[in-house]
This record gives sequence, C-alpha cells and structure tokens, in this order.
Amino acid sequence: MILACDDRGTGPVVVLIHGFPLDRSMWAAQVEALARDHRVIAPDLRGIGDSPMADGVFDVDTLADDVNETLDSLGVAGQAVVGGLSMGGYVAFSFLARHGARVRGLVLLNTRAGGDSPAAAEGREKLAAELEAKDSVEPVVQAMIPKLFAPKTFAELPELVEAVRERALRLNPRALASTLRGLAIRPDRTGMLGSIRVPTLIIGGADDQVIPRDEICAMANGISGAEVRIIPDAGHLTPIEASETVNKHLSMFLSRMDA
Ligand code: MLT
Repeated sequence: MILACDDRGTGPVVVLIHGFPLDRSMWAAQVEALARDHRVIAPDLRGIGDSPMADGVFDVDTLADDVNETLDSLGVAGQAVVGGLSMGGYVAFSFLARHGARVRGLVLLNTRAGGDSPAAAEGREKLAAELEAKDSVEPVVQAMIPKLFAPKTFAELPELVEAVRERALRLNPRALASTLRGLAIRPDRTGMLGSIRVPTLIIGGADDQVIPRDEICAMANGISGAEVRIIPDAGHLTPIEASETVNKHLSMFLSRMDA
C-alpha cells in the first residue's frame, strides 16, 4: 500500500514512523528542523490519517512493507536513515529485517525490542474489541493519554496534551483495532540486536511510563556502538515533549553520518 506522507526538503533521506495512537503530525517539529538539509519523509501508517484503510490485521511486517512501497513510489533510490517512535520503532525493526539494504542508520525513540507478554496481548485484544463495539476511539484515548506524557508536561504544557488527544480522537477506531491486533503478534527482536551494524541513535524519556529507561538502556546495550540519550522531564512522546532536545540529538547524529 502507498501511504500518505509529509515529504519535505532535499538531501539524504530520513524516514520517521509514528507511534500509537498517533499520526504523522507528531513529527511536525522534526520535519521542520531536519528538512533544512535532509529529505524527510513521515508517513501515516495504513488506516491512519490520510492513508487508505484496509481489511485484516495490521502486523508490523505489513506496515514495514507499506513504508518500503511508499519509498519506491516517491522515487527514493538510495539508502535512508529510518526512525520510529514506539510502534514506529517496532516497524523500523521489521523494515531493517525485511529491507535492510535500504537502511543506512536507525533512530529508535521510546521503543523496545521485546514482543508482548501474553497478558499485554490479551489487553490489546480487549481494547480492540471495545473500539469495535463502541465504534469510537475513546477507550484508547482514555487508556493511553494518561501514560504518554511526563508529569512536567501535564503540568506545564497542557496544550501539547490536548493537541495529541484531539488528533487521536480523529483516528479511525477500526484502524486502531487492526493495529492493536498487529502489535500483539509482533516478533521479539531482541535476538536481532547483536547483528545491527548500522549507526544507531536511541532516545528515551526519563519519565516514560510506557517504556522505562532501564528497558531503553538494555536495548542500547544490545546494539554495538549505539548512542543512547535519555531526556530529562520527558515521557513517552519525546519528539513532542522535548522537541528541541530531540532535534539537537537527531541533527548531531545525522551530521556525523553525513560527514
Ligand atoms: C506507542 O506509543 O506506539 C505504543 O505505546 C506502543 C505500544 O503500545 O506498545
């Protein structure tokens, strides 16, 4: 499937894959900053935002293949730095496993290599069924918004929280249900970490309730030469909560790669 995306700037290609329950707008600050000297491509995954809907379970391999097809359709010939936040990171791992020749660098933000525990997978199925039964994204918004931000963001930047909530409320409940079912069956990528040979930047939030810093650091330890940055006072959505700091780390990483 060819995805809707932001495609800005010229230069070495950077692909940014959004998390759940978000869309490509979560990367607005990164697209703006990086497009000064890169071509930045940020897709909406299937069923999300402006991308087409489809039947079936949206497993991470299918999502990675969509990204690959989209890059083909945009005429991206060479390699790209591939980045993803949380679910976007799971998709980036699949992209690396399936289309590795296309990857010159990885950026893993607030994500993990492990798969779901049986309890987590069951929780996703329950939530997916609720979304379908109510034909509403409210259950996801209620379950997730309180976990996505650091206490400091809730206290000092409520407008950011509100903007994410509003975007989430516009998503398609059927697409979110299909995505949740796909996330529940994603493979455990821990065994792949030791074979990653491309430069890798890992970013976490010191106050991330979804993926705690210990898990981020364990993943970083598994990837040879990975650079890890834990951002103080940021939660699960570092590119939104700490956009300037994330942009600084991304720019430094990319300029070292481009040098
Ligand atoms: C995300 O932010 O993409 C989700 O929290 C990922 C997940 O539920 O595992």
